[in-house]
Amino acid sequence: MADHHAQPHGRLALVTGGGRGIGEAVCRRLAASGFRVVVADIDGGNARAVAQALGAEPGFHHFRQFDVSDEAAVEAAFDDIEGSIGPVAALVCVAGILLMPGGERSLIKDTSLEDWERTFAVNARSVFLCGRAYLRRREAAPVAHGRIVTFGSVAAQLGGYRSSATYIGAKSAVLGLTKAMARESAHMGVTVNSVAPGLIDTDMLRGTVQSSGALAAAAANIPLGRIGTVGDVAGAVDYLVSEQAAYITGNVIDVNGGYRMQ
Ligand SMILES: NC(=O)c1ccc[n+]([C@@H]2O[C@H](COP(=O)([O-])OP(=O)(O)OC[C@H]3O[C@@H](n4cnc5c(N)ncnc54)[C@H](O)[C@@H]3O)[C@@H](O)[C@H]2O)c1
Repeated sequence: MADHHAQPHGRLALVTGGGRGIGEAVCRRLAASGFRVVVADIDGGNARAVAQALGAEPGFHHFRQFDVSDEAAVEAAFDDIEGSIGPVAALVCVAGILLMPGGERSLIKDTSLEDWERTFAVNARSVFLCGRAYLRRREAAPVAHGRIVTFGSVAAQLGGYRSSATYIGAKSAVLGLTKAMARESAHMGVTVNSVAPGLIDTDMLRGTVQSSGALAAAAANIPLGRIGTVGDVAGAVDYLVSEQAAYITGNVIDVNGGYRMQ
């Protein structure tokens, strides 16, 4: 599961938000573990670049551009992917947003309904839409070792003080939805789990800090003494989608350096 290159087994993984950050690292890790990867992102240029950088012969990995919060776009993407490439075995819902109006975390009293709706659409509705599209198709055409991995956040677990109430609310919804999907898909042998990252060094995190000093101060509060890397998170996803994780479902793996211990 580390940086090895396994023999391709060809199971298909669809990774949303695969164009950069954690999603990009997940694509690289799953490709190294033998998955055939569809890199999906609203930024088609980034998705294409990530897919091309995965190596392998042309036509093995793919990219798709679509908005995970758009019902018609999600259904069309699944029809297209399953029709032209094959059944999705592992769905990894990484795409998410943290709105910071004016570069600041907004307090509830200052939050617009529009920001609330947008945050829920991209972080939570997306998981419902992609999860539903996957489960409908797996009921009709089962796969071995079916997997869904969603993305929560330490913010939802702690009532996070670096992020907004809209984000905390939406990520909390994802955690509940993960359990509901786990229960409803267990009869198919499909497992559904969530990864809850702590502070991970990506564009999203850097959008919440004003200086590198602030980041160093945050790291000092983490038992393992550092901000996490995208590779730290990708390793947890790699495990959850593997055959070895067959008896784990409805669960959350915290990847936070001990920032929150339960
Ligand atoms: N970075 C952290 O510290 C941290 C902590 C906790 C949770 N998370 C979660 O991990 C996931 C990845 O975060 P990241 O830091 O890599 O973020 P990021 O902003 O670097 O990357 C997110 C990706 O999602 C894509 N995306 C955004 N909206 C989309 C949409 N509507 N449709 C399709 N794609 C869309 C973006 O284009 C981007 O490529 C997110 O769900 C985030 O909430 C991150």
